[in-house]
Amino acid sequence: MSDQHASIPEAVRAGRPTVWLNPHRRPTAEVLPGLAYGLADVQAAEARWRRFDPLLKALFPNLETGRIDSALLALTPEVAAHVGGGADAALWVKADHDLPVTGCIKARGGVYEVLVYAEALALQAGWLTTSDSYARLATPEIARALSGHTVAVGSTGNLGFSVGVMARALGFQVEVHMSHDAKAWKKRRLRDLGARVVEHAGDYGSAVAAARAAFAGRADAHFVDDESSVDLFLGYAAAAFDLERQLRAANVTVDAQNPLHVYLPCGVGGAPGGVTLGLKLLYGDAVRCIFVEPVAAPCMLVQLAAGLDYPVDVYAIGLDNRTAADGLAVSQASMLVAGTVGALIDAVVTVEDAALFRWVRDLWDRAALRLEPSAAAAFAAVAPSLAARPDARGATHVVWTTGGALLPEAEFQAALGMGS
Ligand SMILES: Cc1ncc(COP(=O)(O)O)c(C=O)c1O
Repeated sequence: MSDQHASIPEAVRAGRPTVWLNPHRRPTAEVLPGLAYGLADVQAAEARWRRFDPLLKALFPNLETGRIDSALLALTPEVAAHVGGGADAALWVKADHDLPVTGCIKARGGVYEVLVYAEALALQAGWLTTSDSYARLATPEIARALSGHTVAVGSTGNLGFSVGVMARALGFQVEVHMSHDAKAWKKRRLRDLGARVVEHAGDYGSAVAAARAAFAGRADAHFVDDESSVDLFLGYAAAAFDLERQLRAANVTVDAQNPLHVYLPCGVGGAPGGVTLGLKLLYGDAVRCIFVEPVAAPCMLVQLAAGLDYPVDVYAIGLDNRTAADGLAVSQASMLVAGTVGALIDAVVTVEDAALFRWVRDLWDRAALRLEPSAAAAFAAVAPSLAARPDARGATHVVWTTGGALLPEAEFQAALGMGS
């Protein structure tokens, strides 16, 4: 290890579970005005989602409102006390594990970016004006025209699926580049959709790099860049409006006296980073965003703790990026995300794989939540986080469950078995 990494705690380098309170965090009033993206950008993303409601409703019959959003579930006091390590915290679940269409949070960014691309092509070709109902895009003629274009993405699985479902539904060709640790069933599911799956021997970062290089300069293709796409980021950020609406409907007040703690599993950082931007824009310092990463792949913690403006990966500090949380198996954080919301992230908690499996089991037994290990990470972080910040016990806590409902039964049973 070089001296540049001395600010990364010893426990993190040793792969031990850690609660890292971000020493670089600054008040939102200082940070937000200097960012490249603000409320108007997130509102524009939200408005684009709403323009597409009629199309999504037409393409996905189970989507009654056209909205890709999940329920906000209240945990019973018994389950909440169990999750909070005995603290009687008010605990909610933002149930993106059951997000319609894709069963994972990555749809918020991945579906959104496909919509951005389709809208640009359609407006340019004159198939659509902004005053038309976007349901027009579901016609066979437009699908045929879009089939001359490819949407490509590098993914550990869930982003590829989200991009793949949406892009195939519109008629696009789809190519997904996947890392060695991507689950076989996630590759199969993509091929079943009609996507081309390209497998790479390296990790997620090298799959993304290979796909980026393969599609550079292609006028007939769009590459969804999980590491640096602003559209992905803003698509995720719009989720803040959904949570805000639901908390208001549940009469939950969020202000300086009644803070909100949100636990977000983090891979490359796009999903949790976008949600953080949106929530900080809406609630300021009253919301505290806690990222959760596997002990073997704490890429955001490493990047933020190193405090450097060039990428630092987890291999540089002796970690191996090997985790059962495939969605979080990322060695290097997005520099877009680290640079944009690094000073807004309140804490990063690292968790062991064994804990993920225990929480998959526990949440199924106690609350019938069907989670994949990556999503269970958020639960594993609540008690350690509360122990590190006892002042947070009276806060409202939202655990963002990021994937799992579409896990094949055999995969889910295997995960349950690992947690018994
Ligand atoms: C289930 C699940 N949770 C969380 C994440 C993390 O999202 P991000 O990589 O944008 O940080 C992923 C990423 O694929 C995921 O699949």
